[in-house]
Amino acid sequence: MINHKELLKHANEAMERAYAPYSNFKVGAAVLMSSGKIYTGCNIENASYGATNCAERTAIFKAVSEGEKEIKAIAIVSSGKEFTYPCGICRQVIAEFMKEGEFIFENGQDEIQIVPLEKMFPYSFTKVDLLGEE
Ligand code: THU
Repeated sequence: MINHKELLKHANEAMERAYAPYSNFKVGAAVLMSSGKIYTGCNIENASYGATNCAERTAIFKAVSEGEKEIKAIAIVSSGKEFTYPCGICRQVIAEFMKEGEFIFENGQDEIQIVPLEKMFPYSFTKVDLLGEE
């Protein structure tokens, strides 16, 4: 079973390491991979704004670069008051590495929300469209 609280704890710790001097909006993410390992990430901004990397992609790229390819769950937190949902680019990257799984959110009021992949990103374009079912 997925330990939601543990994954959120990792995401919150990663959020503290956010580099967000322009937006002052800190984001943390933690991905649980099929191996059972957890990788974390924060948003990393840049003076050339478009070079910014979201927390979700930081965590995923760390995991994939260590040989992991299957996300089972991703926890996302931010310094904002409301739930922070992944941007379109991150949804596309998540869809590449998550066949089925869940998104775990915590807002600034200690409320938790769990959303399955099919609800978060329906009608996605994935490798199945290019290569067929594995
Ligand atoms: N951001 C993330 O890291 N993840 C999200 O899900 C939404 C947005 C970051 C990018 C930028 O550093 C800041 O939040 C404001 O957009």
